[in-house]
Amino acid sequence: MEHPHAMEPARAAPNADAVDAFGNRLVGMLDEAGAALMISVGHRTGLFDAMARLPPATAAELAHEAGLDERYVREWLGAMTTSRVVEYDPRGGQYRLPAHHASLLTRAATPNNFAVYAQYVALLGAVEDRIVECFRSGSGVPYSAFHRFHEVMAEDSGQSVVGALDAIVALVPGLEHDLLDGISVLDVGCGSGRALTALARAYPRSRFTGHDFSEEAIRAARNVAAEHRLTNVEFDVRDAAGPVGEARYDLITAFDAIHDQADPAAVLRGIRQRLAPDGIFLMQDIRASSALERNVEHPLAPFLYAVSVMHCMTVSLAQGGAGLGTMWGEERARAMLAEAGFGEVSVHTLPHDIQNCFYVVHADR
Ligand SMILES: C[S@@+](CC[C@H](N)C(=O)[O-])C[C@H]1O[C@@H](n2cnc3c(N)ncnc32)[C@H](O)[C@@H]1O
Repeated sequence: MEHPHAMEPARAAPNADAVDAFGNRLVGMLDEAGAALMISVGHRTGLFDAMARLPPATAAELAHEAGLDERYVREWLGAMTTSRVVEYDPRGGQYRLPAHHASLLTRAATPNNFAVYAQYVALLGAVEDRIVECFRSGSGVPYSAFHRFHEVMAEDSGQSVVGALDAIVALVPGLEHDLLDGISVLDVGCGSGRALTALARAYPRSRFTGHDFSEEAIRAARNVAAEHRLTNVEFDVRDAAGPVGEARYDLITAFDAIHDQADPAAVLRGIRQRLAPDGIFLMQDIRASSALERNVEHPLAPFLYAVSVMHCMTVSLAQGGAGLGTMWGEERARAMLAEAGFGEVSVHTLPHDIQNCFYVVHADR
């Protein structure tokens, strides 16, 4: 019997320059991955904030300022110096965070603090064993496996949503006026409620309701509302795909909360049914195309597909869900909105948010 591979052409030896070039890229990827992890640590330990407060400082001075162990701080500074995040002067053994780096890495830089997003690297890496198993079984990793998810998500939306609420509200003509006058608003998949509590504070005559199926997130949201003594906002543990009920809303928002649903089609239908006549659905979701080939030049595509594998797709599959994935894309989103019975859709981008776009969706028009 003929060998099954007998007809295969002999493989040409790869071009040595191309191998070198790709090898260099791989080295770069390892370096950048290490730097991202250290940027996350720098954020969580407050090291970037401490560096921004200090003039050029030694590792010991920085450790003292941040209240941390000098040996760890010195090693972290090694990673940050060689990845050219921090500058080092060997004569005095001093380190400094240049001002233009501080403007993208410190809490004071909110909403432009990239270190917030670096936290996803470790957060997602922590479930790698279970994800590898899912590649074999086809099942998913549930929300409960992601420690710190709601905490990091709250910081994330504190920047991408709360930091830009004025611009987001301005996307809908007349919405600011209506909010000032007093309308009813529902936020679906509200997480820790940062966006809704900020809206409730800005628009005291409007009434706000937040739904999320995570008890942890709703507890955090209620705490924030209580801290601010807000009486125009309430949070309920509720499955967005569950019964619609009687209440109707003038505005429904979903910030980064549709693509990771178990049953996104049912959730969109439910949103449509909960909207008052002439109501508006404002959906922030990932900026991408549904066609892989159109995402090749997308500046965050590898990161976002990774987030999908490690979180958004898998949490949906863990519930026996659709597993749409982070990169479901605008074409698919528009098709699903139409299938759910919505009217006119316009899609906007805002300069502060390279990761998302904003869909302004009319209930009827
Ligand atoms: C990516 S997070 C976004 C949270 C929040 N909107 C924000 O921007 O911080 C998605 C949220 O959807 C919630 N969620 C997922 N499926 C849900 C469902 N079926 N019903 C209610 N909430 C759900 C999750 O618990 C999570 O808080």
